[in-house]
Amino acid sequence: MEWLFDAEGSRYLDFFSGIVTVSVGHCHPKVNAVAQKQLGRLWHTSTIFFHPPMHEYAEKLAALLPEPLKVIFLVNSGSEANELAMLMARAHSNNIDIISFRGAYHGCSPYTLGLTNVGIYKMELPGGTGCQPVSLEIFLLFL
Ligand SMILES: Cc1ncc(COP(=O)(O)O)c(C=O)c1O
Repeated sequence: MEWLFDAEGSRYLDFFSGIVTVSVGHCHPKVNAVAQKQLGRLWHTSTIFFHPPMHEYAEKLAALLPEPLKVIFLVNSGSEANELAMLMARAHSNNIDIISFRGAYHGCSPYTLGLTNVGIYKMELPGGTGCQPVSLEIFLLFL
């Protein structure tokens, strides 16, 4: 739902509805009910095991997509989704280089750290091969 409370109890109207990758708000009763029902049945599995609710969900999601988008690959986080997007773009284009905005956050996994350009997440370690941070002005020059 729309209200977010901090540790001191201050109330904020949350225009994000949660966070970018989980945009269903906070403690929505409908989401809570479905999550509690699932927790009572099976609370951990993996996409490597076939489980009917995952297929049912994928079919419902695919029905909402325009042709030819009919393939669903479920992942468990925004970082993993971005890793997959990078992998698919590289496999399709045969190029390694990817640019992202300075100041942008795309996750903290090894590859997405290469895309994330927020100071506190940067370390003097190799990683994010082929990822280049650019400013908006430079990005516009590419277009
Ligand atoms: C735009 C964006 N990309 C990626 C992520 C990473 O998602 P996760 O923390 O689920 O790995 C976030 C998380 O806030 C995000 O906002």
